[in-house]
Order: sequence, then C-alpha cells, then structure tokens
Amino acid sequence: MKRVDDFRLRFGKNEYVPIMVGGMGVDISTSELALEAARLGGIGHISDAMVEDVSDRRFDTSFVKEKTKLYKFNINNMDKAVVQFDLGRLAEAQRLHVGKTMEAKKGPGLIFVNCMEKLTMNGPKETLRVRLNAALDAGVDGITLSAGLHFGSFALMADHPRFRDAKLGIIVSSVRALQIFLRKNAKLDRLPDYVIVEGPLAGGHLGFGMDWAEYDLHTIVAEILAYLKAENLDIPLIAAGGIFTGSDAVSFLEAGCAGVQVATRFTIAKECGLPDKVKQEYIKATEDDIIVNGISPTGYPMRMLKSTPAIGSGIRPGCESYGYLLDATGNCAYINAYNREVSAHPDEKNIVVMDKTCLCTHMRNFNCWTCGHYTYRLKDTTHKMPSGEYQLLSAEHVFKDYQFSVNNEIALPEKEF
Ligand SMILES: Cc1cc2nc3c(=O)[nH]c(=O)nc-3n(C[C@H](O)[C@H](O)[C@H](O)COP(=O)(O)O)c2cc1C
Repeated sequence: MKRVDDFRLRFGKNEYVPIMVGGMGVDISTSELALEAARLGGIGHISDAMVEDVSDRRFDTSFVKEKTKLYKFNINNMDKAVVQFDLGRLAEAQRLHVGKTMEAKKGPGLIFVNCMEKLTMNGPKETLRVRLNAALDAGVDGITLSAGLHFGSFALMADHPRFRDAKLGIIVSSVRALQIFLRKNAKLDRLPDYVIVEGPLAGGHLGFGMDWAEYDLHTIVAEILAYLKAENLDIPLIAAGGIFTGSDAVSFLEAGCAGVQVATRFTIAKECGLPDKVKQEYIKATEDDIIVNGISPTGYPMRMLKSTPAIGSGIRPGCESYGYLLDATGNCAYINAYNREVSAHPDEKNIVVMDKTCLCTHMRNFNCWTCGHYTYRLKDTTHKMPSGEYQLLSAEHVFKDYQFSVNNEIALPEKEF
C-alpha cells in the first residue's frame, strides 16, 4: 500500500514532497502556515488578497488608513470610479508581504503566492501587473494564478528578469480553460511549470456554475492528463478539492498527478489565520451546514458555512478603504445590491442584503466563513476537549498525516488536555 511519501514532485532537478498547501485569502493561509509546508519539504502558499490590509496588520504600515483618508470625500458617493489604488504603494505592500515571508523561509520546500485575477482593484491589468512583478522582485519561489482565466497574465511579467526561472502555474477547473490559456500564451514560448486542477469540492470560489455537483475531480484530471499526453506536453498536474486523507492523495498520484493541493484540513491548524472561535465553527459544522451560494460579487459560486455572518449583512460598501473587487469601471455587484435595498427601504437603519455581500470587508474581518466541502469531517481529525471545544492541530501534524498515512486513516494528535 503506497503513501504520499513514496512519490515526489519534480521541478527540473529538484524534488519535493508532493503536497501543496493552497492559498487562502485573506491571510487565512498565513506566512506561518506556508512556511511550515516549506520547512517540511512541500510547497506552501501565501495569498496576496487585500495585501495592503495584510501588511498593515503584520508590519504596522498604514496603507489602508492613508487610502481611506485620501478618498474620504467619496464615501457617500456610490460611483467609485475615482477610488484608485496607488500602484507604488501596492508594490510596496506586496514586496513587504512576500519579502518578509521569503526571509523567514527554512528547509527544502518552496513558497508560492496565490494571485487571483478577480481582484480587479479598479484597474485590472495594471494592478495585477504590479502584484505579479512585485512578488517576483521580492524573491517568491513561484506564483499560482487563480480565480480567473489569466489570458494575459504571463505577458504582464514577461519582461521581468525572473520570468523564466520562477515557477509559474495556473489553477483550472476544465480542460477547456487550460487549452485556451495555453493558446493565448503560446507566443511567449513559456509553458506553465505546473497546472493545478481544482474540482468542485474545494473551498473559496469555485470554477463551476451552480451545477458544480455534476462534476468530479478524477474525471477532469483524466481528461487533462489525456490532453497533455496527446499534445506531448510534460506539465506536472496537481489535483485539488476534497482530498481529505493521504489515501485520497495517493489515488491521484497513482492516476498520474505530480502532486496534490490541499487546504481544508489546515483551516484548523494553529498556524492558520482564522480566529480560534471561527476554527471551532468549522470543526463543529455538519454536512447540512455547508452551502454553495452566489453572494460573492465576483460572480463565481462560493462555498461557505450557512452561519457565515456575511450572509444578509447590509453594511455600507467599504471601497474607499478596500475596493479590491471594483471592476475596470469602478463598479461592484455588491454596490448595486446595497443601493437597491437602500432605495427600497429608505427609512430602514438596518439594511439587509441577501443576494450579494461586501466580500472585502467581510473577508478582512474573517466574517465570511468560506470552507471546503469536507469541512464537516474536520471533527474526525482531532479530539473534543472536556469544555466541548476541539483541540487545534499543528500544521506539521496535518502535513505529516497526509504524507505518511495509509488505509484512509487519519492520525489524531497527542492530547494537549
Ligand atoms: C478557507 C479557504 C479559503 C480559500 N481561499 C482561496 C483563495 O483565496 N484563492 C484560491 O485560489 N483558492 C482558495 N481556496 C482554495 C484552496 O486553495 C484549495 O485549492 C482547495 O480548497 C483545496 O481543496 P480542499 O480544501 O478540499 O483541500 C480556499 C480554500 C479554503 C478552504
């Protein structure tokens, strides 16, 4: 019976434990979590979602305060076109976040940064260009392009001196998305170093419609493997979404994947950025508590706990401070939904918005409890304490459980009570 440790993920001459811990914004996959994966010989992701806010919290900068001050005059104006990111400040925040993580790296693994295209930031192309190039400047080992088709993203960093040496990959959920990505980038003569195939059971935004349940990760992986073989393309595939045990991971490695990307099991690690109270909500969740809905203004379905405080919250759009989801014209689907409710209930103090949410504000405050489908199994991975709360895990424990377990077993941690 094989275990994950019998396999290695190869990039050129280097070999890694074939476990990637996926990017989880906003600062849910912290530097500390990513650094543990790298120390143990795998690959850890940080995320650059709302990087100015993350930098303020971690490094005592005041990017958000300065931006809010600059655009204070616009807070009651629902046209947000003027609320632009200062590209120099954005680069500074990205270099701090990525650079400090890289400085702290120990061990044989790698640190990648997850960059979502859907963070359009009132200037999709220019802000993404800055984020990608600043991450390369700061020495990141690799960049995972996510939440979008990224037709032009390689071109945005093609002039960077590290464009051909950093590891660059993309998350796709269908063979078609990969085909188009490869076709759009063919003229750059630079293939992705890896492709993450994310199925419908993942956490965060899904690359599927509301018919997500009709898709299956093994089938999509097989289609993409067959396509790569037919095209004679040697690109490592990483399977992601619903891989809960070491044995689940082995089934993908035996099918021809070079590695797996996992996240949900790490949401209850001590190193994970979610507040401890929220971690307990994740552990206690039952299958019925987990839903996929359309409240994200990105237009992608998102999986989350039913009890997420973001659902129904009608707070004023926080774009002057954040504004990460403003599109190229300065609009966000939440602004429209909020305005509609305000006009329908002019005398109401407590506005309720059910169909969309102010994702920036709620992710920033850990009030949007996005999670993977198997979150309801987390209680099987740890001990219930006499208080009724559950013991949190170390990232090392979870990582090694994936690496060494067999027979679909899940190792429980040493009791800390
Ligand atoms: C709490 C949480 C937040 C996530 N946030 C992001 C994100 O910001 N960007 C992204 O590309 N993927 C995100 N994901 C997806 C993961 O990186 C990963 O690919 C996926 O969840 C793996 O499946 P698993 O959670 O079943 O192991 C998130 C997942 C979780 C659980």
